[in-house]
Amino acid sequence: MILIDGKKAAAELRAELKEEVTELKSKHNKVPGLTVILIGDLTPSQIYVRNKEKSANEVGLKSEVIKYPDSVEEKTVLEKIQELNSDETVSGILVQLPLPKHIDKQKVIETIDPSKDVDGFHPMNVGNLSSGYESSIPCTPLGCYLLIKKIEPNLSGKKAVIVGRSNLNGKPMTQLLLKENCTVTITHSKTKDLKAECLEADIIVAAVGIPELVRGDWVKKDAIVIDVGINKTDNGIVGDVHFDEVSKNAKALTPVPGGVGPMTIACLLKNTIDCFKRSQI
Ligand code: GUN
Repeated sequence: MILIDGKKAAAELRAELKEEVTELKSKHNKVPGLTVILIGDLTPSQIYVRNKEKSANEVGLKSEVIKYPDSVEEKTVLEKIQELNSDETVSGILVQLPLPKHIDKQKVIETIDPSKDVDGFHPMNVGNLSSGYESSIPCTPLGCYLLIKKIEPNLSGKKAVIVGRSNLNGKPMTQLLLKENCTVTITHSKTKDLKAECLEADIIVAAVGIPELVRGDWVKKDAIVIDVGINKTDNGIVGDVHFDEVSKNAKALTPVPGGVGPMTIACLLKNTIDCFKRSQI
């Protein structure tokens, strides 16, 4: 069994991105900039944002975090986004989710200039991705995709089963694998026989948020299994895949932590650099 080392893959990607930033700096005399907006004081969000800032600095990006209290008015956030949209030193804007209830998430996402939308959540980017045009691609599915390609560069004709249909993971993951000529099945809470669907798969991407849902006898020998889950349980953090059982069957599996997580942040840096490059043409 191949244990897919997301930490190592992310470090390699960051090293490539760092070189690219150095080249861009000498060519354009400026560096890509990432601005993150953080609202409220949820601990996981604070940790994510701190990691994003640290990684951005490491590869040489200009990085800024704007913090607001939970009570901030929606109008203040929307006006700040508009200001960042017209700021030439800002290549990418990310508003950390989840947001407080009184702030309309979709309104926030749609206010971000699609060309600076490093999350790939703006409807324009969602549409472009599903139509096969150039777009920002959501960081987590992009990270999963790069890990899968490292194990199996030719995905044409492979059967992929996505567990979970979220806008954040399942749906964009589907588009990425379709583009690679996979036959993709999206499963969800109303799927009749999840085990039978998974048993057909050459590739399984589990992104539902149910601890250890995917069991050893759900997985074909030689399947590649990607675990997007991060679930807090009494036994610590576990993924959506039962690691011990599935590691006995699968050809390759991502651990939790140390699998998809580090790649997500590296892909955010990649998206920021890609937004910068498109803006310079
Ligand atoms: N919160 C958890 N994951 C994400 C993400 O990928 N993007 C944003 N903006 N917020 C998140």
